Amino acid sequence: MSDRRAPRSALVLGATSDIAVACVAEFGRRGLQQAVLAARDPAAATDAVAAAAPDVRTTPRRWDATEVSDHRALATEAHDHLGGIDLALCAVGMLGHHAGRAMGPEQVDEMVRTNFAGPAAALAAVAEVMAADGRGTIVVLSSVAGQRARRSNYVYGSSKAGLDVFAQGLGDALVGTGVRVVVVRPGFVVSRMTEGLDPAPFATDPPTVARTVAGAVTAGHREVVPVPVLLGPLFGVLRAAPRPLWRRIAGDR
Ligand SMILES: NC(=O)c1ccc[n+]([C@@H]2O[C@H](COP(=O)([O-])OP(=O)(O)OC[C@H]3O[C@@H](n4cnc5c(N)ncnc54)[C@H](OP(=O)(O)O)[C@@H]3O)[C@@H](O)[C@H]2O)c1
Repeated sequence: MSDRRAPRSALVLGATSDIAVACVAEFGRRGLQQAVLAARDPAAATDAVAAAAPDVRTTPRRWDATEVSDHRALATEAHDHLGGIDLALCAVGMLGHHAGRAMGPEQVDEMVRTNFAGPAAALAAVAEVMAADGRGTIVVLSSVAGQRARRSNYVYGSSKAGLDVFAQGLGDALVGTGVRVVVVRPGFVVSRMTEGLDPAPFATDPPTVARTVAGAVTAGHREVVPVPVLLGPLFGVLRAAPRPLWRRIAGDR
């Protein structure tokens, strides 16, 4: 069923993401008409979205989050092609399967650029284009992993924390422009990213995340959205736990 507050046009950053594809499908059910799919493999993104959301018209765009010199061009092209961006969704990310100290300097650098520096730079470009139009919502997929570092995946967690804080600040800076930022913090999601890992407590799936994202975007007031919602208060408590206790709780997960 079409929702009159739902976006009609979308720019998807990291469009092969399982969560992103589920979001396009969910927004498609609510009236999304067209999307620019920015991805390292735009053909794969097109195929995935065509299967999940056949009614959404898509335009593929090759794009790598770490190629910062391309971000302004992407934002402008997407805006001109779509006639304005109602929704920008950032789903770029790499996990590195909880490698912790096994990650060398090159891997740490790649993860920070992929999860934080690259997406933040892209969002800066997208936000300016959207602010000039005076409308739209930017959804940033953060993670509960950014709420508190764990010894097994502190590189991932800290890179998501950086993006999370950036997105919150961007949202504050955009107040009054007509553009809103929604920071989404899923826990464990069963997706390509977590293949081979045992699901953590409160694990969800991409369609569940997508329904929550769509609900938050159309409701129009939520700024930080844990998925599932229980993780919000839970991490409020866990963040305050003394570090020796936190190390025991987090274990090697
Ligand atoms: N799965 C979870 O448990 C979980 C939990 C919390 C938050 N999240 C966040 O949710 C988002 C989506 O994750 P997902 O579960 O849908 O995993 P996914 O299917 O592996 O999606 C990750 C996406 O990031 C893209 N990507 C990686 N490096 C890139 C780069 N340099 N330039 C452009 N795109 C790049 C991947 O593209 P390629 O196809 O080219 O590799 C893929 O589309 C991520 O930001 C992730 O951190 C996931």
